[in-house]
Amino acid sequence: MPYRLTVIGTGYLGITHASCMADLGFDVLGLDIDADKVRRLNSGELPIHEPGLEPVLRRGLDSGRLRFTTSYEEAAAFGDVHFVCVGTPQKRGEYAADVSYMDSAIESLAPHLDRECLVVGKSTVPVGTAERLADLLARLAPAGVEVELAWNPEFLREGYAVEDTLKPDRIVIGVRSERAEKMLREVYQPLGDIPMVVTDFATSELVKTAANAFLATKISFINAMAEVCEAAHADVTQLSKALSYDDRIGGRFLNAGLGFGGGCLPKDIRAFMARAGELGADQALTFLREVDAINMRRRARMVDLARELAGGSFHGCTVGVLGAAFKPNSDDIRDSPALDVAVTIGAQGGQVTVYDPIALGNARKAHPELHYGESALEAVRGAHVVLLLTEWPEFVDLDPEELGKVVAARRIVDGRNALNTETWRSAGWHYRALGRP
Ligand code: UDX
Repeated sequence: MPYRLTVIGTGYLGITHASCMADLGFDVLGLDIDADKVRRLNSGELPIHEPGLEPVLRRGLDSGRLRFTTSYEEAAAFGDVHFVCVGTPQKRGEYAADVSYMDSAIESLAPHLDRECLVVGKSTVPVGTAERLADLLARLAPAGVEVELAWNPEFLREGYAVEDTLKPDRIVIGVRSERAEKMLREVYQPLGDIPMVVTDFATSELVKTAANAFLATKISFINAMAEVCEAAHADVTQLSKALSYDDRIGGRFLNAGLGFGGGCLPKDIRAFMARAGELGADQALTFLREVDAINMRRRARMVDLARELAGGSFHGCTVGVLGAAFKPNSDDIRDSPALDVAVTIGAQGGQVTVYDPIALGNARKAHPELHYGESALEAVRGAHVVLLLTEWPEFVDLDPEELGKVVAARRIVDGRNALNTETWRSAGWHYRALGRP
C-alpha cells in the first residue's frame, strides 16, 4: 500500500505539494486552520494565483485522492507521512524568523499521533529548529519512538511551483534513521531519477537558507555593478550579458533592476543573519547586510530617478505605475519592490495610479491609499512620469506610440531593464533605466 500523506499549511507551498502528490497517485489530506480556505480548496477554488496549479488541484479532488480539512485529529488518523508546510515570516521589528506556526502545527498534531508515522518539515527555518521539533514531537506523541521527524526543504519558485515540484533539480533530506530515508525515497520515487542528497538535520536546513542567500547575493552583485555603471556612464545590461557567457558565472539571476522582493529572499537572508548571530557566527554573514542594503538602495534610486524626471518634486505630479507584484506571473505583493516604490512616491506627494494584471486585488487591500487603474493605459492616462516596476510580458509588449497618446509627458523609467530602449526613444520617449546611461 502506498503511504497516505497529509500536508499541513496550505500556502503556495502546501497547496502545490498536496495537489502534485495527489497527481502522482497518493491519497492526500491537506490541512489548514483557516476554515474558509479549506472550504474554497474543497470546491476547487485556488486562493492564490499560480499558473497551471488549478487543473492539478481539480484533478486531485475529482479523483477522490485529494481533500482538505481543518481537523488535526483526522489528519493524524489519516497520514503515514505528514508534510508541514506552514509559513515562517519575519518577526515584526526583528530580523529573526517567526517559527511559531511551525511549533503550533507540531503541538496540534503530535498529541494525536498514536501509530508509526513520519513528520516531515518543508518550511524554511533557522538551523537548529528540526532538532528542537524532534524533541517536542518525542515528548508529545503517544506513539513515542514510532513517530519520527525528517527535514526536506522546498526550493519551488512562485510562478513555476508545479514544474518545480514535479521536476525538482534536487531533493534534499535530513534524516536520523534509515527508516525515515526509506520512507522519503518511496514518496519521491514516482518523480523518477532526481539527484538526492541525504544528510543530517542541520545541513538540510542550511541548504535552503544558503541557496536563497546565494541567489540574493547574485542579484545584489549585479545591482552593485549597476550603481558603478551609473557613476561611470556604463551599461549594466551589456556588462551582465558579457559576464553571462562565462559559464562559471552564468546568466541567471543576473538581471539588474529594482532588486529582489517576495515572501522568501528578503526575510530568509535576514533570518539567516539573525541565526548566525545566535550561533556566534555573525561575522560569516556580515556580507548579507550589504546584500540587503544594496537591494534596498535600488528602490531609493528608483524614487530619485522618478523625481528627477518629474522635475525635482512629486507635488502636482501624476505617476503611472506598471506592476505591483514582486515579480511577473505572481499575485504575491509580500515585500514587493514595485509597491514599495509606489507607496514612497505617494507619501512624497505624487498622485500614483497602479496597474497589475493579477496582483491588483492584493495591492488594493494592502494599500487603499493608492489609486488603481483597470488597465495599463488607464494607469498611465495623464501621467507626467511612467514607471515600469514589474516586468509582466504585457508591459514589455506595450506599444510606446499608443501609450504616448494618453500620457501628459512621454517620460518612462524602466525599473527592470525590460524594454527596448531604441523603440521607446524613437517614439519620442525620454527613457531612463537603472544602471544604464
Ligand atoms: C525564491 C527562490 O528562487 C526559490 O528557490 C525559493 O524556494 C523561494 O524563494 P521566489 O521568491 O518565488 O523564489 O522568486 P524568484 O524567482 O527567486 O525571484 C525573487 C526576486 O528576485 C524577485 O523579486 C525577482 O524580481 C528578483 N530577481 C530575480 C531580480 O531582481 N533579478 C534576477 O535576475 C532574478
